[in-house]
Amino acid sequence: MRELRNALGCYPTGVTILTAPDGEDGMVGITANSFSAVSLEPPLVLWSLDTSAYSLGAFTGAGYFAVNVLAQSQLDMAQHFATRQKDKFATVDYEVGEGGVALFEGFSARFECRTVATHDEGDHRVFVGEVIAFEYRPDIEPLVFTHGRYAEIVGHREIRDPAEMWSEPWI
Ligand SMILES: Cc1cc2nc3c(=O)[nH]c(=O)nc-3n(C[C@H](O)[C@H](O)[C@H](O)COP(=O)(O)O)c2cc1C
Repeated sequence: MRELRNALGCYPTGVTILTAPDGEDGMVGITANSFSAVSLEPPLVLWSLDTSAYSLGAFTGAGYFAVNVLAQSQLDMAQHFATRQKDKFATVDYEVGEGGVALFEGFSARFECRTVATHDEGDHRVFVGEVIAFEYRPDIEPLVFTHGRYAEIVGHREIRDPAEMWSEPWI
């Protein structure tokens, strides 16, 4: 399993915090890099949650989730939400979005989603959500995760002018 983890770590990802309401006035949140785009029409995304996670029941029952794509400057948030503890929201500011999800400030992007399907696959539950609202900040550099550690984006040295890049729209 260590070797598979190492191989998967060669594929860099962003870092997100997924959130959902937990009962009457609770909230759950986890750091996750399994987030991925699925479809533009209809707008669908997915992510997967370890079935041993404390938050499994809340994410499954809520019917909604938020994806907060972290900025490079939000490393402390990534670490905070990757640690299992009783109330991760006690010391964190947030606003409440569609379906009671938690939305943070300072994000690179954020998506409010309605869960349209879940699939149990191996030791994870895959959540597929329809994007019902989103915001993004192209001026804010996103946080990156690769080779088992956090990283920053550096533009490629061989591309001096962004206009040189292939500019077909892509997910
Ligand atoms: C960079 C990073 C990415 C992670 N991605 C995921 C993920 O996609 N799915 C997951 O279940 N856990 C992931 N984790 C681990 C969870 O954040 C961690 O186990 C969390 O404490 C689970 O929350 P809970 O058990 O309190 O609900 C990731 C951790 C880090 C540091």
